[in-house]
Amino acid sequence: MTTTDQESSLISTLPGHYYTDPELFALEQDRIFGAMWFCAVRAADLAAAGQFRTVQVGRESVLIARGRDGALRAFLNICRHRGARLCVADAGQVKRSFQCPYHAWTYGTDGKLIAAPNLTSMPDVDRTRYGLIPVALREWLGYAWVCLADEPPSFEDTVIEAVSGRLGGDDVIGGYGVDGLALGRRISYDVRANWKLIIENFMECYHCATIHPELTEVLPEFADGYAAQYYVGHGAEFGSDVEGFTVDGSGGFGRLDGVGDEHDRRYYAITIRPQVFLNLVPDHVIVHRMFPLAADRTLVECDWLYAPEVVEQGRDVSRSVELFHRVNQQDFDACERCQPAMSSRAYAGGGVLVPSEHHIGEFHEWLRAELEP
Ligand code: FES
Ligand code: FE
Repeated sequence: MTTTDQESSLISTLPGHYYTDPELFALEQDRIFGAMWFCAVRAADLAAAGQFRTVQVGRESVLIARGRDGALRAFLNICRHRGARLCVADAGQVKRSFQCPYHAWTYGTDGKLIAAPNLTSMPDVDRTRYGLIPVALREWLGYAWVCLADEPPSFEDTVIEAVSGRLGGDDVIGGYGVDGLALGRRISYDVRANWKLIIENFMECYHCATIHPELTEVLPEFADGYAAQYYVGHGAEFGSDVEGFTVDGSGGFGRLDGVGDEHDRRYYAITIRPQVFLNLVPDHVIVHRMFPLAADRTLVECDWLYAPEVVEQGRDVSRSVELFHRVNQQDFDACERCQPAMSSRAYAGGGVLVPSEHHIGEFHEWLRAELEP
């Protein structure tokens, strides 16, 4: 192969403006985050009646609340009277209702309009017409997923089946019993980078040898730069002297109940479109949810989940948390280093993907197709 042939076999990345243009970001909010199932909150965070969280999904603020009947529901976080934002807090608990801070319209945890000052003197206002606007909600893996579309796509086909399809049809995730795990630690990262830089970075391992010294100690094959996501069928193997997925390779908490021999001493990294990363290791699971807030800003909430007894007994999870917390910091630093360069004329035409990153090219193709007129 001549040098020219080699160069022409490389795939170009998206051009720089895909990471900076507010109009393109608005289109992504509508076509992707406002149209697909979006992993919003951990259901166990809202265990008690009246507990709620508000999250940004696409262009909308979404209010997710546990009703007095025990059901989780999602609504647009907008008062039906004059459009004030109903809940301004990120999280909290109400006794029995949400009251708008503007003119005090009051909604039940089921979204129904239950009271409004002087409403008896305004007989034209039909209370049943002015409840909160509901948003579709599904629970899976212990998380509430919401979809803003008028007609949400099938959750089974576009989320569950899409994941197992990418895993070669294997139910790799099922064995980890993710919905029965308990939260050991949560860390939130406010990343000054476009959400796609974070996804692309997560999907590649070309950078592992350069920026992840601790991770490549535990997973030596990552030092070769192969993409972890190609190996979901078998997972990346722990180094021979490594006992657990911890910052110093020391032992963790054994194995989760459903994890068989074939998944022991292995690490799986899975992307669930559009905004979830899942890492599976024998004794814990790490779930990243991304909340794209602007073309150059993404909030990432990262949960470390363990067997309930590990959390109940107050066992020390710090060494396993520390490993991926360092990986997160290393990754997000790299993304933040790229973000300002996206508007440089040096990157106006984009860059290239080396052959081991061609699945990132597939991500770009998917994205372009979603954004097509
Ligand atoms: Fe909410 Fe008026 S805008 S009560
Ligand atoms: Fe990385």
